Amino acid sequence: MKITIGSDHGAVELKDSVKKVLAEFDVEINDVGTFGNDAVDYPDIAEKVCAEVASGNSERGIVLCGTGIGISIAANKIKGIRCALCNDVFSAKMSREHNNANVLAMGGRVLGIGVAGEIVRAWMNTDFSNDERHNRRIAKITALENN
Ligand code: RB5
Repeated sequence: MKITIGSDHGAVELKDSVKKVLAEFDVEINDVGTFGNDAVDYPDIAEKVCAEVASGNSERGIVLCGTGIGISIAANKIKGIRCALCNDVFSAKMSREHNNANVLAMGGRVLGIGVAGEIVRAWMNTDFSNDERHNRRIAKITALENN
């Protein structure tokens, strides 16, 4: 699986920690930055990561900013993206099982690396349930996107 990851300046350290957790999995990691502490705009990072996911170049994406809020809002403006902002393991599991989230958002100023690592492991290890009711609801999300 190819996974694209990106962060603004508010989560550069978290991005490095998340990449170490991702290395536990059989994944190719595509890091689109940012790579320093200079301020960048989180919508630009969301666009870079989500373009990879929406085009099918990457199966999944991870977006990070100070809170995870701005970058998740931006990600969810992009067609085909179901981005879940998760600050706990239960939400991470549900975002895969029920919502088939293809992008995970987290906040570098919110989470410690221990919790963030467990969130990533849960998100990577959980499959979409693929049952009728969840597929129906996701189809309704897609319909909203197409209106
Ligand atoms: C950048 O200072 C900060 O606003 C950003 O990282 C994020 O928290 C926005 O939601």
